[in-house]
Amino acid sequence: MMGNRTMRILFLAAIFAAFGFGGGTARAEGDATSGQKLFGQRCAFCHSIAAAERKPLGPELAGVFGRKAASIADYKYSPAFAALTVTWDDKSLDEFLVAPAKLAPGTPMAIGVPQAADREDLIAYLKSVK
Ligand code: HEC
Repeated sequence: MMGNRTMRILFLAAIFAAFGFGGGTARAEGDATSGQKLFGQRCAFCHSIAAAERKPLGPELAGVFGRKAASIADYKYSPAFAALTVTWDDKSLDEFLVAPAKLAPGTPMAIGVPQAADREDLIAYLKSVK
């Protein structure tokens, strides 16, 4: 039988492996403050984060996390985008942001976010804008 100490070491090893400590790559959560900066640089030109403000080029994103894609009733989405059935969560936003046109061919949102850490930060920020 394994002793208590062995169990504890195995348990810690599993946690270290799961979170990638030492590797320095995986992070548990994105950083919303950094995400806000990135949003200002790359997204705010087309997107407002206020529910009552519409920018000419894209739908407002207040409360977008947890919402069904393309669900702002008076916004005219592209046909491929309007046909999406996803609900925006960590996974679907990540998949969309890495390559928007892959999820929605023909979308006017042409530029993705190639860096995984940037996407995590942006998603953390989007979660925070209610
Ligand atoms: C050139 C303008 C433009 C830029 C820049 C842009 N977007 Fe978009 N975005 C759009 C448009 C237009 C749509 C609607 C897509 C469609 O109709 O195909 C959209 C849709 C979205 C949606 C889904 C909204 C919904 O109602 O389902 C999210 C989330 C989103 N964008 C996030 C971002 C983020 C984050 C960035 C910055 C990294 C960004 N966008 C940059 C134009 C842009």
